[in-house]
Amino acid sequence: MQLGLRMHLHDSFTEEIGGRFDVNCKKLQDFGWKYRPLEESIVDAVKNFEECGLLVGDEKKNGHLKKLEKASENLHLFKADLFDYEGLYAAIAGCTGVLHVASPVELVEPAITGTQNVLNACLKARVKKVVVVSSVAAVMVNPNWPKGQPMDENSWSDTEFCKSAKMWYPFGKAIAESETLEFGMRNELNIVTICPSLVIGPKLQSSLNLSSSLLLSYLKGEINTMNCRVQQLVDVRDFAEALLLLYEKSEAEGRYICSSYTIRPEVLVEKLKAMFPHYNYPEFFIEEKGDPFDFNCKKLLDFGWKYRPLEESIVDAVKNFEESGLLVGK
Ligand SMILES: NC(=O)c1ccc[n+]([C@@H]2O[C@H](COP(=O)([O-])OP(=O)(O)OC[C@H]3O[C@@H](n4cnc5c(N)ncnc54)[C@H](OP(=O)(O)O)[C@@H]3O)[C@@H](O)[C@H]2O)c1
Repeated sequence: MQLGLRMHLHDSFTEEIGGRFDVNCKKLQDFGWKYRPLEESIVDAVKNFEECGLLVGDEKKNGHLKKLEKASENLHLFKADLFDYEGLYAAIAGCTGVLHVASPVELVEPAITGTQNVLNACLKARVKKVVVVSSVAAVMVNPNWPKGQPMDENSWSDTEFCKSAKMWYPFGKAIAESETLEFGMRNELNIVTICPSLVIGPKLQSSLNLSSSLLLSYLKGEINTMNCRVQQLVDVRDFAEALLLLYEKSEAEGRYICSSYTIRPEVLVEKLKAMFPHYNYPEFFIEEKGDPFDFNCKKLLDFGWKYRPLEESIVDAVKNFEESGLLVGK
């Protein structure tokens, strides 16, 4: 299996509209004020971002992958950008299977155009099986689903509704996923999609992703009053098992919801407090508008997918935050 990684650098610049201006600091300089060279400020700022974990260099970013068991024999890293078809094709050529995970949460273009590029490259490279990571966001924004009935794979987020409500993440994921399945049928490419709920658990990478930062914010005393809506969760390790299961099972077809627990935030906070009493937790909970909903994962469970107890995910996630210095344990 090959894996694409990339660096973010702007490669084009456009002139902003508006007049040019400058400022004159002569008054301050006449007082003896001196300033350091721009290069020094830039280098120190970037180093500081890296030290705080806000920015990770290539080696630090990918180092954890190279430490995986037998990585030196089995892992090849390629730089690939979802918007660069040729680069993607170079990474995918020669693969029998592709697990397409990359897509920044909340953005539409990488989800839609990026997935199209990956699928076109898979087709050209005659890949045998593709598993595309969608999200429950592509399932749950469905005002027409019968109230009280857990949502299964027949539920699709209503893209017109998402557009009018400016819910761009569900909008992008629903379009990308339905186009993915149609692409598979049209081109006889073996593709399945998987829709995880909020992914928690111990991180492998040194940077912090959005779903981990949500759990972390519960413990850091950053939120005093919390908006409450029932939350569905899955452990990152169970999600990875599900991805592999779908890749390996030749009978897998269509889409699969992947979610282990449904829990109210205040109940999750109570669990965290009982296990880690020394952190600062939200104190007040305000009920959010909207009907509660749940998911039905029978299709995946019938394939033999299993998941670990929620307590294990929470304990391992918090320990991981402590070990990586994101939380200071007592
Ligand atoms: N986290 C969740 O709770 C959750 C729940 C449901 C579904 N998902 C889905 O799971 C997938 C991964 O989510 P995540 O939480 O790991 O997201 P993330 O933390 O935002 O990471 C996004 C990943 O996509 C890569 N990426 C972004 N833009 C790219 C581009 N133009 N070209 C190549 N790679 C690009 C990023 O690489 P860089 O590091 O180089 O930027 C990063 O590895 C997404 O498809 C997301 O929709 C996540």
